[in-house]
Amino acid sequence: MGGPASGKGTQCEVIRQKYNVVHLSTGDMLRAAVADKTEVGLQAKAYMDAGFLVSDDLIVKLVKDRINQPDCQERGYLLDGFPRTRQQALALKRMGIEPDTFLFIDVPDDALVERIVGRRLDPVNGSIYHLKYKPPPQDIVGRLITRSDDTEEKAKSRLDQFHANVDSVKSIFRDIMVTVDGSGSPGTVSQQIGDVLERRLTKSPA
Ligand code: AP5
Repeated sequence: MGGPASGKGTQCEVIRQKYNVVHLSTGDMLRAAVADKTEVGLQAKAYMDAGFLVSDDLIVKLVKDRINQPDCQERGYLLDGFPRTRQQALALKRMGIEPDTFLFIDVPDDALVERIVGRRLDPVNGSIYHLKYKPPPQDIVGRLITRSDDTEEKAKSRLDQFHANVDSVKSIFRDIMVTVDGSGSPGTVSQQIGDVLERRLTKSPA
């Protein structure tokens, strides 16, 4: 969990490569549904464009269906952007799922806004760039896209939604939560997360 553009997707990619888990980003799943014009996508589009959360029922069903698929069951999975309300957290518990770790990436609001407006995505391979902090190679600049919700105005709604929900979600996972300082460089943040996961996931010999 972390605020909008706190670096969840960037860090999940590092974790996915290291542990070979399935990376499930609810934002990416919803954007794919919108692009494919599925029923879920049609319902979610207006909320996402405005920077509001989509309904808990819709998102819980989406996640439940996905984590029951064989790749998630066999390799394990990393939830990115879910749960982000109390109702979603309780739904996860009702599914009988006990996460190994809950990582909270902590970044001040002004830095989040700067990361939001500077983000660019490569539609060809999904790579995430930032005009200042992770500049794209010159030869692909022309094909990069900006998300429809990555504007200063939408950032405000997204931050409001985040602040309205974050404490209730954190309180449910208090026992397994680790807060990571997300204000440093991507590499520094990855180092902190790597250390946490090594301690949490590597069983020491008896
Ligand atoms: P979602 O896609 O999850 O949006 P978000 O939470 O706002 O997070 P982002 O994807 O914007 O950012 P990120 O934290 O992954 O950061 P990134 O690594 O890209 O959700 C979109 C929408 O879908 C929601 O608004 C909602 O409508 C809906 N939705 C999704 N899940 C939902 C749910 N569970 N319930 C209800 N609705 C839901 O990095 C951002 C930028 O910063 C990049 O440019 C990157 O290069 C740069 N960067 C990363 N790390 C650093 C660093 N350490 N220093 C400097 N720059 C950095």
